[in-house]
Amino acid sequence: MNRIAVWRAHRVPVAPDRSEARPWFVIGAGPAPLRAVLHASAARSGPAVPVVVLGDRFRPDDNEFLLRGLAVARAGSGRLVLVHTGSGGGSLLNCAVAEDGRLSAIEIELSGGATPPAVEAAIAFAGHHADGYRHVEIDGNGNAWRTGWSDVDFPCVDPARMRGEVLITGGLGGLGIRVAGMLRARTGIRPVLLDDLGRGEISGDVHAALARLKSSGGTTVLDADVTDLAQVRTVLAARQVTGIVHCAGDVRGGFVASATASRLAALQAPKVTGLRNVLAAVDRGALRRLITFGSITARSPHSNMGAYALANELLRRSTIAAADDLPGCGCTAVEWSLFSGAGQAHRMGAVRQARSMGMPPVPLQAGMDVLLRLFTNPSTDSLAVTGLGDRTFPPGP
Ligand SMILES: NC(=O)c1ccc[n+]([C@@H]2O[C@H](COP(=O)([O-])OP(=O)(O)OC[C@H]3O[C@@H](n4cnc5c(N)ncnc54)[C@H](OP(=O)(O)O)[C@@H]3O)[C@@H](O)[C@H]2O)c1
Repeated sequence: MNRIAVWRAHRVPVAPDRSEARPWFVIGAGPAPLRAVLHASAARSGPAVPVVVLGDRFRPDDNEFLLRGLAVARAGSGRLVLVHTGSGGGSLLNCAVAEDGRLSAIEIELSGGATPPAVEAAIAFAGHHADGYRHVEIDGNGNAWRTGWSDVDFPCVDPARMRGEVLITGGLGGLGIRVAGMLRARTGIRPVLLDDLGRGEISGDVHAALARLKSSGGTTVLDADVTDLAQVRTVLAARQVTGIVHCAGDVRGGFVASATASRLAALQAPKVTGLRNVLAAVDRGALRRLITFGSITARSPHSNMGAYALANELLRRSTIAAADDLPGCGCTAVEWSLFSGAGQAHRMGAVRQARSMGMPPVPLQAGMDVLLRLFTNPSTDSLAVTGLGDRTFPPGP
C-alpha cells in the first residue's frame, strides 16, 4: 500500500488539568440526569459557558442545539463544551474553531454512559478549557482517553472466491463507478449500482466507465433516491445483496458561522438516512460486508467544510452502530482524504490546492486496492486513509 497510509484510532490515557466550576449554560436534550448534574455544579458568576448535552444517537434537533451552543459561545466567552453519550457532533465544533480563532471547544464523549464516575470526570474536564479543540472519551469508570493513531496494513484474502451481488449506492458517481469496476474486475462480484438518475448529470468519464462495466456483463443499474425509503424498498425488492458499499453523498462547502440546521440536515440525509434506508430494504441475514465512504474532514478540521465533516462523522457513528444489528456482517467506516484520478474533489480541482496545503491525495488505484483488501477482511472497524506524508494527519492531540 505505498503512496497511501491507512490509520486506525487507539486510546491514549489522559487526566484532567486544573479545573474550576464554570457558570455553565446547559443546552440540549441529552440524558436529563446528566443535564441536571451539570446545571447543579455550575458556578454562579462569570461569563456563561454553553454546555451542549446530547444523547447516544444524533437526532434532527441536535443540529439546532450545536448551532445554538456555538452562537452563545461566540456572543460570550468564546468557549463551548459538548457532552454526549455517543451522538457525536464534535467535528462541527472542530471546524468552527479552525474558522474562528476566538472559539475553543471540548467534546466529552461518555462512551460507557452517564455513570456517576463518568459525570464527575466530565465536570473536571469541562471546567478546564484549553485553546483550540479537544476530544476526550470517558468510560463508565471515569477513565479518560484521547485519540491516538497508528498506521495499519491488511492482507488481501483471495478475492476470486467472492460471489453474489453487491449494492453500491451513489454507484454512478466518480468513485462509486470505480468501486464497481474494481470489484467486477478483481472478484466474482456482480455490482448493483443505485443512484438518483434524475438529479445530477452523469459525467463523460462515468458514462465511459459504465459502458465498459456493462459490456463485461453482470451489472445492474437502479434509479432511486436513497433518502426515500419507499423508493429504495421498491428497487431492491426481491434482490439479495451480500454486500453494500455506501458512496451516496453530496459535498458542499460553507462556514459554520453561516450554517443553518436545515443545511446541516441536507448533507446528512444521503449519508445517514441513506444508510438507514438501504439497511432497512435489504435482507440483513444475507449481508456479509458493509463499507461506507466517509471523509477525513470528520477527523481533522478543514475550514469551510464543517457541515460536510459532521455528515461524515455521523456516517461513521451510524456504520459502527449498525454492526449491533448485523451479527454476520463486517461493518467498516472508511474516512478518506481526497482522491486524485476520479471523484468530486478531482472534478472540482481541489486536489491541487490540497497538495499545496500539505495533503497529498489518495491515488485512485491505491485507494481501490485498499478497498479490495478491506472488502476481503470483514471486520467491524473505523479507518482513515490519507496520501502518504500528509502533514495534516494524524491531527494533534
Ligand atoms: N472524491 C473524494 O475525494 C472523496 C473523499 C472523501 C470521501 N468521499 C466520499 O465518497 C463518496 C463518493 O464521492 P464521489 O467523489 O464519487 O462523489 P460523486 O461523484 O458526487 O458521487 C456521489 C454520487 O452519489 C449520488 N447521490 C447523492 N445523493 C443521492 C441520493 N439522495 N440518492 C441517490 N444517489 C445520491 C450522486 O448523484 P447526483 O450526482 O445525482 O447528486 C452521485 O452520483 C461521497 O460520499 C463522498 O463524500 C469522496
